[in-house]
Amino acid sequence: MPPRFIFDIKRTHSCGALTKANVGESVVLFGWVATRRDHGGCVFIDLRDREGLTQVVFEPDVSPEAHALAGELRHEYVVGIRGKVHARGAQVNPKMKTGEVEVKATELEIFNRAETPPFPMDDEIDTAEEKRLAHRYLDLRRAPLQRVLMTRHRMNQATRGYLSSRGFLELETPFMIRSTPGGARNFLVPSRLNPGKFYGLAESPQLFKQLYMVSGFDRYFQIVKCFRDEDLRGDRQPEFTQIDLEMSFVAEPDVFEIIEGLMAELFRAAKGKELTTPFPRMPYEEAMDRYGVDKPDTRFGLELCEVTDVVRAENGGGVPLFAQALEGGGIVKALRLPGGGGLSRTELDGLEEVAKSFGARGLARAKVGPGGEWTQSPLAKSATPGLRQGIHEKTQAKEGDVLLFQFGKAKVVNGVLGQLRGSLGKRLKLIPEGRDDLLWVVDFPLFEYSDEQKAHVAAHHPFTSPRPEDVEFILSDPGRCRARAYDLVLNGNEVGGGSIRIHDSSVQAKVFKALGISDEEANSKFGFLLEALRYGAPPHGGLALGMDRLTMLLAGGESLRDVIPFPKTQKGTDLMTGAPGDVTEAQLRELHVRSVLP
Ligand code: AMO
Repeated sequence: MPPRFIFDIKRTHSCGALTKANVGESVVLFGWVATRRDHGGCVFIDLRDREGLTQVVFEPDVSPEAHALAGELRHEYVVGIRGKVHARGAQVNPKMKTGEVEVKATELEIFNRAETPPFPMDDEIDTAEEKRLAHRYLDLRRAPLQRVLMTRHRMNQATRGYLSSRGFLELETPFMIRSTPGGARNFLVPSRLNPGKFYGLAESPQLFKQLYMVSGFDRYFQIVKCFRDEDLRGDRQPEFTQIDLEMSFVAEPDVFEIIEGLMAELFRAAKGKELTTPFPRMPYEEAMDRYGVDKPDTRFGLELCEVTDVVRAENGGGVPLFAQALEGGGIVKALRLPGGGGLSRTELDGLEEVAKSFGARGLARAKVGPGGEWTQSPLAKSATPGLRQGIHEKTQAKEGDVLLFQFGKAKVVNGVLGQLRGSLGKRLKLIPEGRDDLLWVVDFPLFEYSDEQKAHVAAHHPFTSPRPEDVEFILSDPGRCRARAYDLVLNGNEVGGGSIRIHDSSVQAKVFKALGISDEEANSKFGFLLEALRYGAPPHGGLALGMDRLTMLLAGGESLRDVIPFPKTQKGTDLMTGAPGDVTEAQLRELHVRSVLP
């Protein structure tokens, strides 16, 4: 039998490997037909694999058989070729890694033929995302997605290498765990063997990694799937990946040092960029004050400026709405757009709709005139000179600047102006190309008041340690307690969060109480943790990085769907497999579950 491809004739190079240095060599390439053209009696194809493209030529005088068979080739046929590397001479293609050479084929085998694909496998295509997701395996053949997933691979490897070298053990934790309402909503899995009972899919390995610390493993990490039944947005997926870690005998700076080193490795692995460490730290209060959000994008200015004091000193300054906001316990903040950001009056009018999309009721604004008067503003007539002057001093406003105002509840004011700032930063192109800002946001409150639940909820999670000096106020004044929690922010995105944990069962019990979780409930849900904390729990803390978000920011992508190989849509569906799907009555019966749907 003549030698056969795959069995006897093995691949010698990838389709992205050949250069002038290989001229004269006999090579074997396997891959997909990316393009095909007939030219002066020869057939040219670009052969593609994950490493790139190589031009292969079939000439009748080199091999009549291969040339004849090449006539059958179509897009996405899977083939093997053997041939000789030639310099391309005048036709060098500088855009291709292998553009200096071509392979003149002496042998060709078609391993498999392909139907015409529903969309081309090109770098840039305008095919609707739904169609691409429905054929994700084809979408993933496209070079941009292959590059992202290869970057992801390098990031995973860098993580493992770095953390192992720093003494972390890669240990696993269960996905099917007890469902504990309170954090993110759990996906539930009915138990066939235990009628009427359910597992929850772990929203994170949080409790188990703490238990590893109690067991003495000292340093743990895992690249792990987490499951959260949340409403989805571009930066959220129902199953996503964390780089999760936990350390014993540490305080905040120890965790920061490890993570800064890890981020440096990840930047290097993903895009060959060197980072400067340590990262700046910013208290939560300062972030809210200057940027209106707890994940500030510090790559550009446009900082917010609170003018509540000025309004108060001026008794409302002639603006009844400002005065009312203060009476209701609210605040007044301004965002100064130098020179109006170069926006026309109509464009400035349009900002009101943008603000409304962020939850504002309106967007008061004023343009500063030559004598410090306000124009283009419903506030112009009534605002007192003192108010204007005070606000100009505080915001450093000059002639031609535009002031945008929000007033009312601090949460809404900050939320609206913070998001407006973010959108203006992009729209006015204020973000310097290639700049990456990493920072730690620290000193978060321990509890947040939830208007919805009419109770305090844990700002990070209920296992987060309060500052030691605040422990005495956990029950008497929860609002004033600060947490030993920290978030890592990259260019205005929360890419990680963590905390130093409670290692004292009495403090943990107090926190549960402040959260309105009774002893009984705490014991039934978290009894194992409270008990573990009584058997010698070391002081410990950790953090989890959002791997998908990080990849999106480092490898490029508009949404998490661009960096997750098989993602879900905004509605949590997989358009390729059709999940979630129907199940049979018999399956439900076996699980002791009945559908209430008609
Ligand atoms: P946290 O809930 O802050 O912390 O999650 C850590 C990081 O995970 C990412 N993330 C998500 N990414 C994609 N889709 C989602 N639905 C999603 N939710 C979160 C974010 C976030 O910063 N156990 C704690 C960590 C700890 O305390 O050690 C935890 O899970 O980038």
